[in-house]
Amino acid sequence: MFSRYKKNSDPAPAKPAPMEAVGSGNPQPRAAEAKPEPRAGAIMRAAPVQPLRAPAEVVAADKEKKRKDRLMELKVELHKRLLENLNLAALENATEANLKSEIAAISAEALDEMSVALNKDDRTTLNQELYDEVMGLGPLETLLKDESVNDILVNGPKRIFVERGGKLTLTDVTFKDERHLLRIIDKIVSAVGRRVDESNPYCDARLADGSRFNCMVPPIAVDGSLVSIRKFKKEKLRIADLVQFGAFTEEMAAYLQAAVSCRLNIIVSGGTGSGKTTTLNALSSFIDNTERVLTIEDTAELQLQQIHVGRMESRPPNVEGKGAVTQRDCLRNALRMRPDRIIVGETRGEEVIDMLQAMNTGHDGSMTTIHANSARDGISRLENMVAMAGIEMPLKAVRNQIASAVNLIVQASRLQDGSRRMTSITEITGMEGEVISMQEIFRYERLGLAPDGKIIGRFNATGVRSHYSERFRSWGYNLPASIYEPIG
Ligand SMILES: Nc1ncnc2c1ncn2[C@@H]1O[C@H](COP(=O)(O)OP(=O)(O)O)[C@@H](O)[C@H]1O
Ligand SMILES: [Mg+2]
Repeated sequence: MFSRYKKNSDPAPAKPAPMEAVGSGNPQPRAAEAKPEPRAGAIMRAAPVQPLRAPAEVVAADKEKKRKDRLMELKVELHKRLLENLNLAALENATEANLKSEIAAISAEALDEMSVALNKDDRTTLNQELYDEVMGLGPLETLLKDESVNDILVNGPKRIFVERGGKLTLTDVTFKDERHLLRIIDKIVSAVGRRVDESNPYCDARLADGSRFNCMVPPIAVDGSLVSIRKFKKEKLRIADLVQFGAFTEEMAAYLQAAVSCRLNIIVSGGTGSGKTTTLNALSSFIDNTERVLTIEDTAELQLQQIHVGRMESRPPNVEGKGAVTQRDCLRNALRMRPDRIIVGETRGEEVIDMLQAMNTGHDGSMTTIHANSARDGISRLENMVAMAGIEMPLKAVRNQIASAVNLIVQASRLQDGSRRMTSITEITGMEGEVISMQEIFRYERLGLAPDGKIIGRFNATGVRSHYSERFRSWGYNLPASIYEPIG
């Protein structure tokens, strides 16, 4: 067993472990330290029949962990000292550069006092983390700055996941402990005048950069606070980007342009993070600049490029349970504000009534998103929402209302390989007896799975011509018949 360990452990990790120098007063790694000593822990891990990792890696990972733990300890101590020494009142007006140099000075002095020597890289990391701690959201800052990250999901202080390109991965970012995490949560929610504690254990908020934030703290969150952040993207994906990413085809884009321009009422349906808001935002780019558009959202995310846009954001009740302004309140008021179109970020409750009414009463071209897995499912969700809103109406009447309000359902999906695609475009054509009739125009066909786990598939037309062809034509959108013809 031992001989195997020896064999696998060669060569020794080349990278010096900087933290070994901490406290020794010598920032240079000593030669002996560069070579790992076989230690009990490492041998234990190398011993099983199929070792998970080569021991050299285990030793390196162990060193890296020690280095991180040590840096974390130092950070806590320095943070304490910083808060004692920094002139907090002056922080507001200090420039970033000033503040950074002040932090560097205070931390250098403190490290000196503690006789701790750090190499340049660790010093820079530490000072940046201290800056993030004092001015920003601590460990979350690096993830917030990372452009490739879409979502940040915190499951207690030691497990922070991010979503990139539709895939979730565990990061090596951690909080020191639950108290540290709670302090950052408190910083976020108090900035928007909210509070979380045992009696108010959850909260929605918006970060200064526009990102959506939700948290749930113990004891309701069992293993430490849960945080989810949907990052705000300044550069929204445009139709051309989405076509380029394979979210839909140019033919589908041409169809959607006609649908939006001819003021069909559109619902974007999809699961969480499937790209509903992104799609809605991209679709809105087809709205004419002369139209008056009002948007209503729980968290303002949409970025319409038109000049005549009025944006509204609902408001949850304050700590005393007062002052709530719901999406429904906004929507009712919006109807008195002479809109051409109304866009509701996500319909999830009683506002469905007013949304359907708006769509049925001359605000053609209105759009919203709902949480559903298919066009059919989307219709059921609408029916349920109407029922939940306490409206006593026979089902057939509800369906009539829906069928005459909604023209088009666009299905957004996040597939198992992380890709986001418009998997179906379905028109609502009316009622057949008790049933809402619809026809699918485009769909995504799955053809198989590549060895690397990527889904192989293609978009295809169903061969059904649009129910709205006449309308498109009369508005000047002459879509070639070929876009409705299926391939293969
Ligand atoms: N087709 C796409 N390709 C790549 N990224 C996308 C696509 N659609 C959406 N995204 C990204 O996915 C994340 C979630 O999208 P979003 O529209 O907010 O989802 P939803 O509203 O369904 O929860 C965003 O960060 C967005 O930029
Ligand atoms: Mg959304």
